[in-house]
Amino acid sequence: MNDSYLIQVENLRKYFPIKMGFMKYNYVQAVEDVNFFIRKGETLGLVGESGCGKTTLGRAILRLHEPTSGKIFYEGKEITHVKMLPYRRKMQIIFQDPSASLDPRMTVGEIVGEAMDIHKLYNSKKDRLDKIQQLLTQVGLNSEHSNRYPHEFSGGQQQRIGIARALAVEPQFIVCDEPISALDVSIQSQIVNMLEDMQNELNLTYLFIAHDLSVVKHISNRIGVMYLGNIVELGKSYELNKNPLHPYTKTLLSAVPVPDPIKSRSRKRIILEGDIPSPMNPPSGCRFHTRCPYAVQRCREEVPEWREMAPDHFAACHII
Ligand SMILES: Nc1ncnc2c1ncn2[C@@H]1O[C@H](COP(=O)(O)OP(=O)(O)O)[C@@H](O)[C@H]1O
Ligand SMILES: [Mg+2]
Repeated sequence: MNDSYLIQVENLRKYFPIKMGFMKYNYVQAVEDVNFFIRKGETLGLVGESGCGKTTLGRAILRLHEPTSGKIFYEGKEITHVKMLPYRRKMQIIFQDPSASLDPRMTVGEIVGEAMDIHKLYNSKKDRLDKIQQLLTQVGLNSEHSNRYPHEFSGGQQQRIGIARALAVEPQFIVCDEPISALDVSIQSQIVNMLEDMQNELNLTYLFIAHDLSVVKHISNRIGVMYLGNIVELGKSYELNKNPLHPYTKTLLSAVPVPDPIKSRSRKRIILEGDIPSPMNPPSGCRFHTRCPYAVQRCREEVPEWREMAPDHFAACHII
């Protein structure tokens, strides 16, 4: 275990049981044998198509989903089976859909104050209210807004409330689960910039989930690419964009629009054949083999090992 890691997961799996009939279950293999670490103060971007397991992975790290197997470490301590209350304060989440994640019957002040109360952070009412108002100002809202209800706000403002709620307990680590994908394009960059400013000011560590590489490219120190429950590649943002190793990362990159029309014309777009297989019945061997243009027999039979292919650049693929 390295001192610079805040989060580490080993062989993490999350399967959801699906009842198929009397005493008969099938399993959605949402996260399959994932290994990575997040360094203190960094942003790890996590990308992949919808349904590939990003949210499940983010929630499993926080133990909002209990992992099926594997280990989770926080600052070097295994937390896979411990009581989570003390860690809830250190580890927070910002949700994809702000309107669905804010209780419509609670005022903004109650929403932001709730976690403070659970963790008994403030003894006096005045200190508590001061802190709520300070948080609202910090996320760009009016401190007078604490008596209003979530529906009185726009999507972007609701997400600011969600961010204030996450910050209320002074966490060290935040899972940002597609925090801008439900928002108007015009305000997406405001929210991203704010999250970046907060990170610098408060020395936060982020797992930043997006379905699109272009969103995480600039804000991430490193990026992990997910496909059907596996992380298939993880490396420095610049390296991964310039020199992708895994065939799936290459296809994702080829789909990112390039502003320069000449470059755009010269770049070959790789179109994947076929649909994403079901996580209830994933392909044998490498899960990507059914859609990989380079697949050979071995890919159908053997699960590729997660290896460090170059310093700080990991991938799982037989043909690299
Ligand atoms: N609570 C659940 N019960 C059963 N299946 C689930 C549950 N949550 C997610 N899944 C399934 O797990 C897979 C991964 O989902 P998710 O983690 O939400 O993906 P993403 O966030 O990348 O879109 C999907 O097939 C999804 O249907
Ligand atoms: Mg998701």
